[in-house]
Amino acid sequence: MSAGAASIGVASSQPSRLDGSAARLSCERVTVRFGPVVALHEVTVTIEPGAQVLVTGQAASGKTTWLKCLAGLQRPTSGQVRWGADDVATLTVEERRRRQSAFGMVFQSDALFDSLTVLDNVMLPLTRRGVPRGEAQERASGVLRRVGLEAAHHKRPESLSGGMKKRAGVARAIVAQPSVLLADDPFAGLDPDTERSIAELLLEVSAGRTLVAALPDPVASLPLPRVLRFEHGRLLDEAGLR
Ligand SMILES: Nc1ncnc2c1ncn2[C@@H]1O[C@H](COP(=O)(O)OP(=O)(O)OP(=O)(O)O)[C@@H](O)[C@H]1O
Ligand SMILES: [Mg+2]
Repeated sequence: MSAGAASIGVASSQPSRLDGSAARLSCERVTVRFGPVVALHEVTVTIEPGAQVLVTGQAASGKTTWLKCLAGLQRPTSGQVRWGADDVATLTVEERRRRQSAFGMVFQSDALFDSLTVLDNVMLPLTRRGVPRGEAQERASGVLRRVGLEAAHHKRPESLSGGMKKRAGVARAIVAQPSVLLADDPFAGLDPDTERSIAELLLEVSAGRTLVAALPDPVASLPLPRVLRFEHGRLLDEAGLR
């Protein structure tokens, strides 16, 4: 896949970045506890706008919890997640909404709405941002074509295979061209060819934007320059360039 963003239907005259969308993303001594479980322990990381970061670590090492903290979906027990200078925990509802619209997330376990068709699921991030329905439909169709789901527009997510659901989740995360793309285990359940094509797509749509991808181990298809490794909720070490 080498086509540009326009050919996958995600380019548009609509502004794709909102105020502050190019902000630095950082966490300072972020700890998350679930009862007795310490999912994250004093994690401090700064991600510059446009950085491409891979997060690795064994099962239960805290990758998903960390991505959710970055996305503003998980509140730290202590420590701060910042978006630019702002502590995400102190944002107003409107500021939080604006911040959310700069983020796209591929969830590890699919978060599609079974009551909606695949097309409507993928259109959601656009209609929520006020994109007119016709344009949203066109852009969502383009992205679905790009992930190989052109025949699944009108299906319900419950009737898709695991890999198809994953691809629909990728389509939904990228359709609004978020300035920060968070991809949690985006290749789980995919065959090698589909993995490669999804990896290319993630790299293509995140070019010049921020990409944070969580995988159990680094993979050749997604060669990101910065690698963070988690173990038992701690940021263990870091390899590569900042
Ligand atoms: N909502 C929750 N309630 C209770 N415990 C949780 C919750 N979410 C995560 N945990 C626990 O926090 C720890 C870290 O989980 P997390 O999902 O972040 O790990 P992970 O690195 O993403 O694992 P995997 O590679 O399996 O996806 C685990 O011990 C998990 O059981
Ligand atoms: Mg996980």
